[in-house]
Amino acid sequence: MAILVTGGAGYIGSATVELLKAQGAAVVVLDNLVYGHRAAVADVPFYQGSIGDKDLIGRIVKDHDIEACVHFAAYAYVGESVTNPAKYFENNTFQTNNLLNALIENDVKNVVFSSTCATYGDPVRIPIDETHPQKPVNPYGWSKFMTERILEAYDTAHALKSVALRYFNAAGATEKCGEHHDPETHLIPNVLNAADGKLPFVSVFGSDYETADGTCVRDYIHIADLADAHIRALDYLKKGGASTHINLGNGLGFSVLEVIEAARKITGKQIEVKMEARRAGDPSHLIADARKAAEMLGWKPQFAEIETIIKTAWDWKMKNPNGYAE
Ligand SMILES: NC(=O)c1ccc[n+]([C@@H]2O[C@H](COP(=O)([O-])OP(=O)(O)OC[C@H]3O[C@@H](n4cnc5c(N)ncnc54)[C@H](O)[C@@H]3O)[C@@H](O)[C@H]2O)c1
Repeated sequence: MAILVTGGAGYIGSATVELLKAQGAAVVVLDNLVYGHRAAVADVPFYQGSIGDKDLIGRIVKDHDIEACVHFAAYAYVGESVTNPAKYFENNTFQTNNLLNALIENDVKNVVFSSTCATYGDPVRIPIDETHPQKPVNPYGWSKFMTERILEAYDTAHALKSVALRYFNAAGATEKCGEHHDPETHLIPNVLNAADGKLPFVSVFGSDYETADGTCVRDYIHIADLADAHIRALDYLKKGGASTHINLGNGLGFSVLEVIEAARKITGKQIEVKMEARRAGDPSHLIADARKAAEMLGWKPQFAEIETIIKTAWDWKMKNPNGYAE
């Protein structure tokens, strides 16, 4: 029996593959490599293809005796989703629908799905728990929101069991796996790019928010902690757990300037900052209430400190200055 990991050559997927393998699980990766890196999963059975390819998925399930699927594959650039929504609904929602149909046809009934705090939209209260209203403010968030609804309908119709994990901001690196996105839009890798001279400065969007230092506050969650939560969710489903939605975050918020200050300490580099205007759609605070993950999965983040998170990312960057070899 094996686990199918879609998007397993990506940032969070590859760290989860690494941990699954370390725990002795058989793993198969399906990734179209549009954003992923073959080198991130060099030592596992790998298929380059799309989650929308039902025949391919049927073959993988039969050839590898797939028992469950961890579904990371998606496009995740929020800004691009606003200018090109079709790309996001097509890939993230319609192709996921094909994947789920192929899994059901081949009797794979357990799915762990990468959802996001973007399904909540602008918070009406902080911290955000799973009962917080879901009202996305961009097509990326809607594409994930709709997938959550499809999963619910497929539970009713086909007894497909799922855990939708709503992550906050993934960050950090493991020994082998780190963040290599092109283009890179996330704060921590860009702060570190400014530290090692790949960027002249790091842009800070908005300094007049209602936060202690005026910059946005976010909840950063280490990819090793995310990986651990996925494996716990798989175990939960294997034991017959009901379909559910669970936040994954630290429950701690760090402002953009706090992240930059921590990075200066870790790297010993002067990191130049450029203050820019606010970006549309950035709420002042996004902080998770992750008590449900603790209660249902027995999950507790091991890398909650922002310094630790940044240090792991910096160590990986020092070992892989140009990211993964292509
Ligand atoms: N990074 C974050 O902070 C964050 C936060 C919340 C949710 N998420 C979600 O977590 C998941 C993983 O995020 P990530 O940061 O690792 O992204 P990533 O881009 O590094 O990984 C996604 C992978 O999916 C692959 N992919 C995309 N569409 C595909 C398709 N149709 N068929 C096959 N492969 C396909 C890409 O090539 C890539 O390797 C995504 O679903 C994302 O929406 C990420």
